[in-house]
Amino acid sequence: MIGAGAVGPIERIFEQYRVHGHRCYGETVSEREHALQCATIAEAAGEEDLVIAACLLHDYGHLCHEKGEGIASRGVDARHEELGAAALAAWFRPELVEGVRLHVEAKRYLCFLDPRYAARLSPASATSLRLQGGRHSAEEARAFSAGPHAALAVKVRRYDELAKQPGRKTPPLESFREVLVAWLLPSAADGARQA
Ligand SMILES: [Fe+2]
Repeated sequence: MIGAGAVGPIERIFEQYRVHGHRCYGETVSEREHALQCATIAEAAGEEDLVIAACLLHDYGHLCHEKGEGIASRGVDARHEELGAAALAAWFRPELVEGVRLHVEAKRYLCFLDPRYAARLSPASATSLRLQGGRHSAEEARAFSAGPHAALAVKVRRYDELAKQPGRKTPPLESFREVLVAWLLPSAADGARQA
């Protein structure tokens, strides 16, 4: 049980999106819109809670640095996938954390695997790809795809690319609370259902 007045992890995450979610990172939607669209599209596709939760949080790391917006266009890679994974590892089970950490590697992998995917990347995503190491080599792709979390990361990545639609309506953050709670570490779960 969290103490009186303490703020649980889900509330802290939602607060980050409320306070910083207006940020853009070169796309045509804000961070909050992007996260909600990604989770909503995954949910509508019938994905399991793990995929939906990873979709919602995959870019959480963009809210964890103060390097400014649209940094890729300035040649800066904030390593947001690592920042997000590091922050979320305090609260969430490793499967979810790895889905977040690997979503950039999944982009590099898909660009190696599927030229049509690479051709459809948004301009911002194509710019950041160059900073992130470009598409995988055959060896990198083999190593990545053999990993235990590759399938999750690839799913997240494909929904990521669909979640950049200006004006698309989504449910609020609160509607994803239970999906996130399901993937909390036992030590973080107590009290997390409280709004
Ligand atoms: Fe994203």
